[in-house]
Order: sequence, then structure tokens, then C-alpha cells
Amino acid sequence: MLRAVVCVSGGGTNLQAILDAVKEGRITNTKIEAVISNNAGAYALTRAKENQIPAVLLSPKEYPDRAGYHAAFMEKMRELSPDLIVLAGFLVRIPKEMTTEFEGKIINIHPSLIPSFSGVGYYGLKVHEAVLARGVKVTGATVHFVDAGMDEGPIIAQKAVCVAENDTPESLQRRVMEEAEWILLPQAIDDIANNRLTVRDGYVRKV
Ligand code: GAR
Repeated sequence: MLRAVVCVSGGGTNLQAILDAVKEGRITNTKIEAVISNNAGAYALTRAKENQIPAVLLSPKEYPDRAGYHAAFMEKMRELSPDLIVLAGFLVRIPKEMTTEFEGKIINIHPSLIPSFSGVGYYGLKVHEAVLARGVKVTGATVHFVDAGMDEGPIIAQKAVCVAENDTPESLQRRVMEEAEWILLPQAIDDIANNRLTVRDGYVRKV
């Protein structure tokens, strides 16, 4: 049984997609051990509680500096000792130490076709604003393993989504979630839980 911890910052629709997929058997062999958020107001924490999953608040604001926050975050993660850490709309950079200690065990969902519109400054709605400003016609989402870089680890899966002429950042965000994110992320977790993925020479292969 894969023991997963999901990290979230906001609404948690990706968390909900994971919980639904577990309930409906589209993710098998997986237990969500805990949900961690940096944001006290994150609706994702309520979703966790509603599903009887321990909801942990670890806010950088409660620590004198980043080092203190990172130390507390690492301590919690070591205590939970998950097989997989899922960054599902987690908008805080994770400690470098975590990428080393949990190498190959962290995945992230990003709302664009990486490497486009990824890296520093590209998160949440900002990604879709940039997509519309550039006038690209196709965008999408990416699930990837997380390494020490920003949106740089091996890519697990991507799905394209068309941009509509009358899209707003909000309408595009919603469509990318519906058509790509909520499908890709549960699929990736199920693939990992059932040993269908392997990373070779920095590339993800299906087994
Ligand atoms: C999602 O669109 C996710 O891809 C994005 O934040 C949103 C969270 O929504 N993540 C990033 O931008 C990470 N760089 P949610 O809380 O409703 O799942």
C-alpha cells in the first residue's frame, strides 16, 4: 500500500480529484496519510477533515525565518515518512533537503506544458495570465517528479488543452483543471502505486 502525503495551498480541487479517485477505485493500492498546508485559510484543509484525513497546518508565518519553517516541515515529513509526496497546488518552495531525502518520491502538478510557462514566478492564475498575454493557442498541464530545480524534474505525463478566443485567466484555469489536471494527477498516483513507472537516465518510462 502506497502511503501518500498531499501538500496544498488553496482550494484543493486537485486534492478532491485524488480523494474521489481513491473512493471510486481509479487510484488503487494507496492511502492518503495526511494533508499538509502552509495556509490556514486553505479550503483543502476542510476537504481533508471531511474525509477523516489528518489535516496539518504548517505556516511559514509561525516561524521566525525560512530555516525554522523548513526544519519543522522536514520534521513533520520524517515523522510521516510517506512513500509519495504529492504537491497538489502547493505554492511554497519545498526545502532542498526534502528533494534530496525524498528523491524520486515527490511529484507536482503544474498548470502548463512544461517547459513553457514554468519556473520562478509561474504559479496558479499567473500561469494562465501569461499564456493569454503571449497568445498561445494550446496550453495544458504537466505532472512531473520534483528535483532541486523549479518545475524541472522528469516529466510523468502531459495533456494539451486548447485556448479559446474569449478565455479569461479564470475560465482557462478551470478548463485546464477539468480537462487535464484532475485526470493526470490521479492517473500518475495510480501508476506509481502500482509500479507502472520507472525513471531511467532522467526520463520516465512506463513499465
Ligand atoms: C492548480 O492549478 C495547480 O496546477 C497549480 O495551483 C492550482 C491549485 O488549485 N499549481 C501550481 O501552479 C504549482 N506551480 P487547487 O488548490 O484547486 O488544486
